[in-house]
Amino acid sequence: MIQNNTFSFDGDKSLTHRAFILSSIALGKSIIKNYASGKDCISTLNCLSKCGLKFSNVKGEIRINGSKLKDPSQPLDCGNSGTTARLLIGFLAGQGINATFTGDSSLQNRPMNRVLKPLSKMGLKFECNNGKLPIKIYKSNLKSIKYESPIASAQVKSAVLLAGIGASGTTYYKEPIISRDHTEKMLQYMGLNIKVGEFIEIEGQQAQPQPINFQIPGDISSSSFIASVAALFPGKEASLKSVLLNTTRTYYLHILQKMGAIIQFENQRNTCNEIIGDVKISHKQLRGITIDPEKVPFLIDELPILSILATQAIGITKVTGAEELRVKESDRINAICKNLKKMGVKVEELKDGFIIEGPNELVGTRVETFNDHRIAMAFSIASLLTNGQVEIDNSKCVSISYPNFFEHIKRLTQ
Ligand code: S3P
Repeated sequence: MIQNNTFSFDGDKSLTHRAFILSSIALGKSIIKNYASGKDCISTLNCLSKCGLKFSNVKGEIRINGSKLKDPSQPLDCGNSGTTARLLIGFLAGQGINATFTGDSSLQNRPMNRVLKPLSKMGLKFECNNGKLPIKIYKSNLKSIKYESPIASAQVKSAVLLAGIGASGTTYYKEPIISRDHTEKMLQYMGLNIKVGEFIEIEGQQAQPQPINFQIPGDISSSSFIASVAALFPGKEASLKSVLLNTTRTYYLHILQKMGAIIQFENQRNTCNEIIGDVKISHKQLRGITIDPEKVPFLIDELPILSILATQAIGITKVTGAEELRVKESDRINAICKNLKKMGVKVEELKDGFIIEGPNELVGTRVETFNDHRIAMAFSIASLLTNGQVEIDNSKCVSISYPNFFEHIKRLTQ
């Protein structure tokens, strides 16, 4: 029988994108179990399939036969997914593919120059709409570069490293602060020669990567919403089973602990070069916290839900160095501050973050999600803290990353 407070999650979204992409050129059949079934990773699979990828879904496992990809005859629709667009632009450029990339209205507004700039230094020929989608890439012979990125972004890093697979020579990449490192880990696991030091170095045009058989660990970013409910409500406790515990992704749990919540890590083990384990969380009165700007990339996707916790914590919570939040699926700094203000919270909007003074009593209002899945999930949890009525304008967008979010929340809170 499932315990009411024990949760398993679909596979991590970042790992699923990478597993689909890298399996497409592996030498043989890869099996990807517990993949992320939300819309973002399905966009990646559909784009690859338009490039000739052969896959089957057998009892919930995706089986992929690696092969040479070809030019798609239709535009590649990346939907709402920045990871799909940025990683595939780099990857397919390295595979010598001609393709047009497009996406929904949110994605068409997100900056793509961050990947186009290094890729054009590698020799990519393209057309774009003022640094944004739609983008057309032309088959180009890429050569390696030595690139020092001005932003800490795993999407930019991955675009360059994935392009580097097909480029001539060794590509070097350095970032100002380390971002999530799944691409490096998966490339190593699949047998490619990649070194991680001051610069990451990937040798181009190596032998094909080995196929993978990967049971993807549960999505740590989805699980952070459940962890937060357990931390917020007296008497609540949650157990997260087999979630990804890569240290570039677990910082939010450490922050919860520093704010006062009780957290236990258990049963840690290694799978396909990633760490997986169980986590137990229970409530204790929370205290405000100042986030070190250097650590922001380690909890970038968790900042919307952190803002909700901050409303209940005693004292000041301050986030700075998070200007990247302004160019996510929505301008998340604005979305957080605007909605919290409407709920009666003492919040100050900064250009690169926010300051929240707690604790606050939240009032019911209409929340604008800006069609952003993480804003919808964060404010659905905020709605549990009010006595009044909260109306959320588009709660369906949670299916981008966490299709069973509402079912899980109901189970934990009933
Ligand atoms: C991701 C990287 C992050 C994150 C996104 C997924 C990835 O973006 O916000 O949800 O899988 O590489 P940036 O690295 O651009 O900050």
